Amino acid sequence: MKLWNHRKTEDLGGGWLPGKPGRKFRAGGIIPKLTAAWADRRGKIPGLPGYITENISEELIRLEDLVKIYDTGALKVLGLKRINLTIHRGEFVAIMGQSGSGKSTLMNILGCLDRPSMGHYYLDGVDVAAMGPDELSLIRNRKIGFVFQSFNLISRTSALKNVELPMTYARKGKRFREQRARVLLERVGLGKRAEHMPNELSGGQRQRVAIARALANEPPLLLADEPTGNLDTAASVEIMELFSQLHKEGTTVVVVTHEEEIAAFTERIIRFRDGMVVSDQPNMPRKPRQEKTGSAGMPGQGNTAVPEGEEEPC
Ligand SMILES: Nc1ncnc2c1ncn2[C@@H]1O[C@H](COP(=O)(O)OP(=O)(O)OP(=O)(O)O)[C@@H](O)[C@H]1O
Ligand SMILES: [Mg+2]
Repeated sequence: MKLWNHRKTEDLGGGWLPGKPGRKFRAGGIIPKLTAAWADRRGKIPGLPGYITENISEELIRLEDLVKIYDTGALKVLGLKRINLTIHRGEFVAIMGQSGSGKSTLMNILGCLDRPSMGHYYLDGVDVAAMGPDELSLIRNRKIGFVFQSFNLISRTSALKNVELPMTYARKGKRFREQRARVLLERVGLGKRAEHMPNELSGGQRQRVAIARALANEPPLLLADEPTGNLDTAASVEIMELFSQLHKEGTTVVVVTHEEEIAAFTERIIRFRDGMVVSDQPNMPRKPRQEKTGSAGMPGQGNTAVPEGEEEPC
């Protein structure tokens, strides 16, 4: 069954114009400066930059018989055992399971930070399982925002600069970066903290900076591996309310958590055990409180961006 369709950029009214190498069109995503002829050739190869995916289904993620084996030399550890899973555009999903059940292994593969040993991972219709590091880096930058338990902010850099970072990787101009970073910080309720260093912020505030950073390049997919793991209850609720809001605005959000109270915010709960999905059920989400976390709204920006997976630790 063909669930997605590729079309060259020209068919969509975007992409490369003959005789104008270096022009970048939104539909084509991040395309290096190439000659038009080269771009035309690349455009015929699915999965490579320059190739347009026009998703005609609502599937954002499809995993087919996905396996991850960690080979530590003497020992082979089966991190994931033949996972088959589909996540649709706009879903708000919790991944739960005991320690060691494979949640982070899954998230790292979904976030293109790691590759499966076997099987297929279709992201937005393109099988990314066999892609090399450079291609995965492009995909991360364009399609995925990742939020970590330990925030992973750069410690000696302001909140503003932290949020700007993925846009620097995406080669956005200085003025654009700063303006957008300020909008995003406003969006997460930290407009007045833009110049603060991470160590001048609370845990919840740091995580909100990390979320703003994850949104920088307008990714359709936001992944968060235990984003509330280092936060108290009040800050955890604020973070989940922010995710709920982003989900309502159209972003697909996948959150790993150990806590039922956190999973209660989502609309679907997938449970893992020993590297396998043992249950996958819809959930009636907990109602967020009235607007709290600075959700002033981002004009024209429902969801955004993803930085590189090249996060630097804080
Ligand atoms: N780099 C690695 N090398 C070898 N084994 C690994 C590696 N990373 C994870 N594993 C193993 O894969 C399995 C799944 O680990 P994973 O980190 O995905 O669990 P998890 O569900 O995220 O656990 P936690 O809730 O503690 O974060 C575990 O048995 C773990 O020991
Ligand atoms: Mg984990």
